[in-house]
Amino acid sequence: MTSVLFDRIGELTTNVSEFGEGPTGLRRHAALVVDDGAVAWVGDAADAPEADDRIDVDGRAVLPGFVDSHAHLIFAGDRTADFTARMTGQPYAAGGIRTTVAATRAASDGELRANAQRLVAELHAAGVTTFECKSGYGLSVTDEERSLRIAGELTDEVTYLGAHVVPTEHADDVDGYVDTVTGAMLDACAPLARWVDVFVEDGAFDADRARTILTAGAARGLVPRVHANQLAHGPGVQLAVEVGAASADHVTFLSDADVDALAASDTVATFLPGADFSIRAPYPDARRLLDAGATVALATDCNPGTSFTTSIGFCVALAVREYGMSPTEAIAAVTTGGARALRRDDVGHLGVGAAGDLVVLDAPSAVHLAYRPGVPLVVGTWRRGELIAGRR
Ligand code: NIG
Ligand code: FE
Repeated sequence: MTSVLFDRIGELTTNVSEFGEGPTGLRRHAALVVDDGAVAWVGDAADAPEADDRIDVDGRAVLPGFVDSHAHLIFAGDRTADFTARMTGQPYAAGGIRTTVAATRAASDGELRANAQRLVAELHAAGVTTFECKSGYGLSVTDEERSLRIAGELTDEVTYLGAHVVPTEHADDVDGYVDTVTGAMLDACAPLARWVDVFVEDGAFDADRARTILTAGAARGLVPRVHANQLAHGPGVQLAVEVGAASADHVTFLSDADVDALAASDTVATFLPGADFSIRAPYPDARRLLDAGATVALATDCNPGTSFTTSIGFCVALAVREYGMSPTEAIAAVTTGGARALRRDDVGHLGVGAAGDLVVLDAPSAVHLAYRPGVPLVVGTWRRGELIAGRR
């Protein structure tokens, strides 16, 4: 079968203003046809054309598949002990990453692949149809290279994060590690990745070293993205804008100058509410960025240390309850916002010609994602017109 009609849609979020009302192009009593993996027709259910297959959506809400622009899925082990300690008063420190590095290095390719595939299945079940995946728990040439190779089996959006932290064996030679990250490790990793990322933070990399790494990656065709201003105010956001990063992620601690810089740039500001929740960080005020005109995305940051969740719906609910985003803004942030953060124009919306990636919710409206926190509302997730999770 090549064409699929999604019929009797109660509320369709298109993210195309000509197709409906408001910023998310909302259309009621709608239908949509996916042909050969791409959106071919959007209109009123009463005018729906024939197709090879028909899904009766029965009045439910349909949205573009969610775009998760920030995830760390290649690792072994978990950090239950860290989490428990944190919840009883210990602060989060970037150094916890090294626990996962040790477990990752000790794991076989098969173990890393199986763990990542399990998390991808969870992302699909949560409605995610496009996701980014970083390395960053290998931190040696061979372990970063194999992390990216496995990531590349799962997604096209692969990010080289050799500069996650300085590994233990280089603790006394940070500049030597930066030389490896920009030398032999980059040689091995650049062909396997689209993006280069650095964790800019006390305990990870300072601005000068991060600039060196991002610039070296860019010279090899990788586009920068930055872990910026997560644990404290720092130089990450300004550096992201300076190097033309696609996205500055976390952005938990922002000065007015950071807000202005993001608003005046093409760098997307990506909030990671699962991380702020799981490390008990203060919640940032998204209104500052939205009202200044910055482009905002929301992503899961799925990782074993700070945000062990694949529930993008939970991130939407947190952003609405705690960051001051309207439900519509948060829904846009996990669809068009994520797509902008990955510089993709084929996903995140349901315009004619877009990827036939969509989510059917067991709810009458997309707002239920925030209104019903923690409830698995996704009935079916479709990618390129094929069911990848849930049911018809
Ligand atoms: O996005 N901030 C840096 N990296 C991850 C945390 C990784 C870890 O603690 O294992 C993050 O929060
Ligand atoms: Fe992260």
